[in-house]
Amino acid sequence: QTIYRKDYTPPTYLVDTVELGFDLDPERTIVASRLVMVRNPDSVRNGIELHGVNLQLVALRMNGRLLHAGDYDISGDILRIPAAPDDVTLEIETLTAPVKNTTLNGLYVSNGNFFTQCEAEGFRSITYFPDRPDVMAKFTVMLRADKSKYPVLLSNGNLVEEGDLGDGRHYAKWEDPFKKPSYLFALVAAKLVCQEETFRLKDGRNALLQVWVEDGNLDKTDYAMQSLKNSIRWDEERFGLELDLDRFMIVAVSDFNMGAMENKGLNIFNTKFVLANPRVATDVDYAGIEAVVGHEYFHNWTGNRVTCRDWFQLSLKEGLTVFRDQEFSADMIGTDTGRAVTRIEQVRTLRQAQFPEDAGPMAHPVRPDSFVEINNFYTVTVYEKGAEVVRMYQTLLGRDGFRKGMDLYFERHDEQAVECDDFRAAMADANGRDLAQFERWYSQAGTPVVTATGRYDAAAGTFELTLSQSCPATPGQPSKLPFHIPVALGLLGADGKDLALIVDGANAGTTAVLELMKPKQTFRFTGVKEEPTPSILRDFSAPVVLNYPYTDAQLLHLFSHDSDPVNRWEAGQRLAMARLLKMTAAVGAGDKLALDDTFIDAMRKILADESLDSAFRENALLLPSESMVAEQMEVVDPQAIHLARQAMRKTIGSALRKDLLAQYEANQTPGEYSPDAISAGKRGLKNLALAYLSAAPDDAIYALAQRQFDLAGNMTDRVAALTALIHSAAPGAADALERFYAEFDNEALVIDKWFAIQAAAPVTDVAAVRALMRHPAFNLKNPNRARSLLFNFCNGNPAQFHAPDGSGYAFWAEQVTTLDALNPQVASRLARSMDRWRRYAPALQAQMKQALQKVSGSGKLSSDVGEVVSKALTN
Ligand code: ARG
Ligand code: ZN
Repeated sequence: QTIYRKDYTPPTYLVDTVELGFDLDPERTIVASRLVMVRNPDSVRNGIELHGVNLQLVALRMNGRLLHAGDYDISGDILRIPAAPDDVTLEIETLTAPVKNTTLNGLYVSNGNFFTQCEAEGFRSITYFPDRPDVMAKFTVMLRADKSKYPVLLSNGNLVEEGDLGDGRHYAKWEDPFKKPSYLFALVAAKLVCQEETFRLKDGRNALLQVWVEDGNLDKTDYAMQSLKNSIRWDEERFGLELDLDRFMIVAVSDFNMGAMENKGLNIFNTKFVLANPRVATDVDYAGIEAVVGHEYFHNWTGNRVTCRDWFQLSLKEGLTVFRDQEFSADMIGTDTGRAVTRIEQVRTLRQAQFPEDAGPMAHPVRPDSFVEINNFYTVTVYEKGAEVVRMYQTLLGRDGFRKGMDLYFERHDEQAVECDDFRAAMADANGRDLAQFERWYSQAGTPVVTATGRYDAAAGTFELTLSQSCPATPGQPSKLPFHIPVALGLLGADGKDLALIVDGANAGTTAVLELMKPKQTFRFTGVKEEPTPSILRDFSAPVVLNYPYTDAQLLHLFSHDSDPVNRWEAGQRLAMARLLKMTAAVGAGDKLALDDTFIDAMRKILADESLDSAFRENALLLPSESMVAEQMEVVDPQAIHLARQAMRKTIGSALRKDLLAQYEANQTPGEYSPDAISAGKRGLKNLALAYLSAAPDDAIYALAQRQFDLAGNMTDRVAALTALIHSAAPGAADALERFYAEFDNEALVIDKWFAIQAAAPVTDVAAVRALMRHPAFNLKNPNRARSLLFNFCNGNPAQFHAPDGSGYAFWAEQVTTLDALNPQVASRLARSMDRWRRYAPALQAQMKQALQKVSGSGKLSSDVGEVVSKALTN
């Protein structure tokens, strides 16, 4: 059943206060709820409407009177009380069995502890409630549970009372001073320990900060705590936003569907984004913790204080909060190149994951118009493209203008549930700008294509840049209107330096932000004394595909000199992509594979340029992934892409051997491990060097990888060495795998890496994955473990997944179906692996279609997986 944005109606009743009582028991939890409600004057409809899923209703009272079967009706997920007075107190008692809940949505048990996950619509499987974000209420929560099994009882807000109940049970009462929608409710009842600290806020108040983990993990909470303190500081300074609570808690849980959740004052996190020390966590893990801790903390204002009117507005909070966490991570590094490297990584994610989504069967606008299952719309489009849309405001309005818009947004909408349009209005009004056309970034799906051409007139000293835009059709949107696109532009002279830009006789600095609003526009620069090389879309100023007829010589010029590091990197990617596509075609045609010296020399020059940050050099040398190459092909041949890319890596590995070895040595990080960007960048470049060297291995290289594996003092280097050994099929590979497992037997997050490395290794075929599933440590019910093996195989090992015999597809169908019965949200993510099936060679396509049909016809499908496979088959 499809739900449409246009069908929004206000809630019939509002909730003032909620008192919840939980008698927690894994098999039989009693939930008592007391709702003080009042008729909503804005509603033209009547009757009380509550949501409820899989609940056993024990009793329902209205204003003290017990209601009977005829007083209400339950149909599907809605309980309706048709006749109700304007002021109502409802008392509801329900029963659930958290231990049987494998969906990890609502109230569930993980490792014997109780946790909740309510966004988007999990609260309705805890109790009957108007479970929609525009109903905001004040919550008081009483928790009762066995004291020895669940010594820690947490909920949102402030602890107001706790004590013993006799009979081995105890209680805790929590009160949240702010009104909130039900999706931000949380409780934890568990055996946990915490690291805590009092932190002084800008206004002088003290806040208690806690990070709760299972016993044995207190040696892995420092970085999360540090990141939390940095986040609080940063939001005070950059946006003037302060923590509004006396207490802020982070709780780590090992069974969790996503990254983390911003429940008011009680953030619940996947252990993956909390636990770290150098022995078990990589640089990437550390960066992930900083970003996600920041993200959830920043939601306290963008999401919680100001929330969404309905779930179509999800990007209002997610796009904005991703943008905020991106800026936070960039500011934490502090240097310009460090900032640029984070930007490069964002661009890569966008192209790797969001562009394909925008071009596939699940394409949807940043603010979708319809959905079947809201959980399917926590997407890279809503999150990452949404963040790009927010970033474009800042590009158009400047940092100060953006801040003015933020201030007005909070001034107008604090403690309200609003729409994306309200955010845009605040940005426009605070800056006296017309942003009407900008709305199309929210309403139109698909990645716009900007085509540029340049014309230099030497006699007149002018350079004209003509930009035209178009956007491909997407499901339900056959044609598009022009977008409002900020295009940041610089012009390079022959010496590689930026030319001073003169537009309409005025000096425009060295980077100008052009505003493309029509289908086609020409921009004219005067006083241009030599033919320039245009650097277009600097800092990736808009989420578009840019076409410009660059020559190799121009790209090499940009790759060596562009003052904008993002476009400098981009020039290298364009050079590499052209070669990957040519080599892939050569594999298909059975031709000899060759890589030109010009390209190899350009790579060598960047590699050896020690005036550049190691992190930048690593990114510049990283080839586009196999799936990115696939996105550029008319008909995708995964085996040819794999062979071509491997050949290219091997050629680079042997041609640059000396230089790679030199950088391998120069980028060692002796001494105590630190996750800072400079050190991480060195490890990144060193380990990329190792990976290239291992693509053209001999005994010396095997020994190098083995030595790193044996001696490394941190997980970043261990994992890189293990990966190199396995990918190069080194003699020590099997032994290293075994030792790694034995050493980290007790560290679930490291065992996830052990599965993940194998899943993505070129040697791992379907049979090998099936064998790994029989390993005692594999557990389909744990999302991290399922993702580490299944997702890394289906999405990260294209040549094997797309095996010509279709065995990968049959495996996929089997796993999606099995998982769906346990956990629809995780199953539905795996289902997305087949999104691009129509782009493959006919023989593969037919088998993919068959697999999709098999899943779609397999009887009892969740709405989650149902929506994904049916859209794949029809769009
Ligand atoms: N709001 C959470 C976050 O961005 C994620 C919630 C995801 N929920 C879901 N049903 N997938 O941080
Ligand atoms: Zn979020």
